[in-house]
Amino acid sequence: MNERIDIITLNRNAWNRVAERYDKSNYGKLNDLIVKFCDILPKNGSVLDLGSGTGLPFAKFFIERGFRVLGIDFVREMIRIAKRNVPQAKFEEMSMTKLEFDNMFDGIFSSYSMLLLNPPLFNDVARRISRALKNSGLFYLALNEPKELGVDPENDSITKIMNETMYSRAYTEQEICEIFNPLQMELLEIYRVNTHTEEFGEEHTICFLFKKNAIM
Ligand SMILES: C[S@@+](CC[C@H](N)C(=O)[O-])C[C@H]1O[C@@H](n2cnc3c(N)ncnc32)[C@H](O)[C@@H]1O
Repeated sequence: MNERIDIITLNRNAWNRVAERYDKSNYGKLNDLIVKFCDILPKNGSVLDLGSGTGLPFAKFFIERGFRVLGIDFVREMIRIAKRNVPQAKFEEMSMTKLEFDNMFDGIFSSYSMLLLNPPLFNDVARRISRALKNSGLFYLALNEPKELGVDPENDSITKIMNETMYSRAYTEQEICEIFNPLQMELLEIYRVNTHTEEFGEEHTICFLFKKNAIM
């Protein structure tokens, strides 16, 4: 059923309507794995923020840590807000499903943006991420994992977030490792945190830090 829905159009329209409210929600939170991502990156390195939203708090944090930041988001309204919030970073309106960079970035960061992709799109974007990273580059990924084991993550993937209907799917640790392991991406660390917010309800967040290894 979901295969027949154009989830990119569905989600772009939904996030366009959410943008101003998201800017006021103060939702994103820093964690120890994000600090570690920054600590390992080279000084003045380049960071690509996938689904950068309003630029807060993450693009701003990367700028403060001295990195060069490119944020991409497929919602024009998000890009407008992000440019206002973090004028020192660059932001471009584009879908991560169209990434075409080769060996360009020291770090790639995705916080709650790839869970909006279905598995075929996720696999394709993962290949684009690996290609866009320099050797030894880092990839940070945060998304939700299923709240219960044994439940098909595709159930309820068309859902309401901030009162808008969109596609959003939980991914298991095993699914993520099976996607990235064949792409020269070595898992360095996992961090988990459970949260409850008014906007998103109960979430079981799993964060991954991967490193791209050169082909021997
Ligand atoms: C839950 S928000 C997360 C924003 C920010 N990364 C954070 O953690 O606060 C998801 C963001 O991803 C963007 N997004 C979703 N799918 C995308 C896609 N295919 N390409 C680019 N941006 C996308 C949305 O427009 C939205 O700004």
